[in-house]
Amino acid sequence: MVKTAVVFFSHEGNTKYAAEYISAITGADLIELEPKEPYPRGKVSKYLAGKDALAHKMPELKDYEFNKDNYDKIVIGTPVWAGNPAPPINTFLAANNLSGKELAFFACSTGGNGDKCIDYMMKTAGANPDSLTLNLIDPMKKRDTAKLQEMEHWCLKILGSYETDELWDLYDADRNPTGETMNRGAEIPEGRYHIVVSVWIKNSEGKYLMSRRSMKKGWCPGAWETTGGAVDAGEDSLTGGVREVKEELGIDLDPSTGKLVRSVRSDGLQDFYDVWMFEKDVDISDIIMQEEEVSDVAWMTRDEIDKLWDEHKLHILLKYYKEII
Ligand SMILES: Cc1cc2nc3c(=O)[nH]c(=O)nc-3n(C[C@H](O)[C@H](O)[C@H](O)COP(=O)(O)O)c2cc1C
Repeated sequence: MVKTAVVFFSHEGNTKYAAEYISAITGADLIELEPKEPYPRGKVSKYLAGKDALAHKMPELKDYEFNKDNYDKIVIGTPVWAGNPAPPINTFLAANNLSGKELAFFACSTGGNGDKCIDYMMKTAGANPDSLTLNLIDPMKKRDTAKLQEMEHWCLKILGSYETDELWDLYDADRNPTGETMNRGAEIPEGRYHIVVSVWIKNSEGKYLMSRRSMKKGWCPGAWETTGGAVDAGEDSLTGGVREVKEELGIDLDPSTGKLVRSVRSDGLQDFYDVWMFEKDVDISDIIMQEEEVSDVAWMTRDEIDKLWDEHKLHILLKYYKEII
């Protein structure tokens, strides 16, 4: 499995927020850089910190665990300080020779000189000029769906091609079938979407059947979720959902009892994401987990699901769950 690291420094939390989101989606290890002498906050220090960045200073860092040989891809994130990377990134790049590695870079700014900052990091790291880059404007302070989708789309590119024989039908932005298909893992053509389903099963005690993604998955390994996945070519959304539940958990659902409780188009992930709700009592001991996909299953109350969310253990794309349960 491809192993990715997200190495970052953050002063006010924006770069950390983006790094955590990218790591949750790509399954990357998170490595936070911290200077031994933390930068103080406030206007004057901003001026001094900016001066350090302009001079490409290399402050001493607290110990961090990073061995480039453990990673196939390394993502580096920084706030933009006076048009440059924050100094802890200079220290990191000087201490680790990353030339020859597959690198990606992102910078968080209030809107000025993100590209210049990324350019400087790429040159210093000896990166391939075609490396993936992402320029974000204060992603935490100014949260919006478009920013999340931009990050999600970038994550798709970081995960890269893992093309398989599985075929998907493609739809236009209004969900009209185009008659086109594509192989799973290839780049989705612009203006085209495929269908993804998420299936919730509720029992008569009001608990929900949650499953844990296998650590072998490239996308959110180890996260708790409800069963689902991409709909195959020739299937409709409901048929795809029922098939996924059968494949991953060995449970037979009656399609006529499924209710569509949410359907949203994501321009970041280029999909229509349908959420189906079923009511069924299933004995956990009767569940046959598909080893490649699922590592654990449990019936959970809403409170238990809230706890998973608070502990960042729920699949990031299930962030809608409070709307439907
Ligand atoms: C010392 C300093 C210098 C900055 N210089 C710039 C700049 O040149 N251009 C810009 O757009 N934003 C600049 N900013 C704003 C930050 O880049 C921006 O708010 C970023 O999202 C902060 O990331 P963080 O929350 O991870 O620290 C500066 C902030 C600081 C503290």
